[in-house]
Amino acid sequence: MRSGGFAAVSLLTAYHLLHPKPAILVISAGSSGRASGMIASWTTPVSHSPLLVGVSIAPARYTYQLVKSSREFTLNVLDSRYVKQVNFLGTVSGRNRDKLRESGLTISRSKKVKPPHVEEALAVLECAVEKEVEAGDHVFFIARVLEAYAKPEFFDEVYKPEKAKILMHLGGAYYTTVSDELITPKPRPRFC
Ligand SMILES: Cc1cc2nc3c(=O)[nH]c(=O)nc-3n(C[C@H](O)[C@H](O)[C@H](O)COP(=O)(O)O)c2cc1C
Repeated sequence: MRSGGFAAVSLLTAYHLLHPKPAILVISAGSSGRASGMIASWTTPVSHSPLLVGVSIAPARYTYQLVKSSREFTLNVLDSRYVKQVNFLGTVSGRNRDKLRESGLTISRSKKVKPPHVEEALAVLECAVEKEVEAGDHVFFIARVLEAYAKPEFFDEVYKPEKAKILMHLGGAYYTTVSDELITPKPRPRFC
């Protein structure tokens, strides 16, 4: 059988083959009301109706504790201008410090859930956990989206690729963003 030009990829990094994925800020809040957040690139929609999304969170994370107890979180989509804040929120634990405040991002009250969102986000989804599934060394939380909002400058049914420079995680400390190109098989794309 021909090798087809492939080279083997270590199973330690083979998940990078499914990236780039948006580096999403997941914010939750404890019973004291103090909010904290972490970065998750393992988020995905899983159902249209009802709209369900999933996020995979390792039990070692402080955010895991908050989501597990409060059963609510917000997903905040950030763009490439916030790579430093993303790196900070994705490498430092909020267990013993108020890293959300330290990040300098602007914390704002959400509409339907207790955890806040950040004003710098291109888009926000407010979520309530419906189910959790043990998944190896992570727990996959499946949550219903109760409310969603986005900045029209960046999003009109779909993200505008020339404007919304979503921070995309390649793996490790490497990121990229989306190109300006809008690719579609339709004869007349909407955004021209
Ligand atoms: C780009 C990026 C993506 C990440 N994706 C995930 C993820 O999907 N799930 C997860 O459990 N941790 C992920 N992490 C790690 C957590 O964000 C990190 O451990 C964070 O410091 C946890 O903070 P906490 O202890 O305050 O919850 C990611 C980190 C980065 C930088």
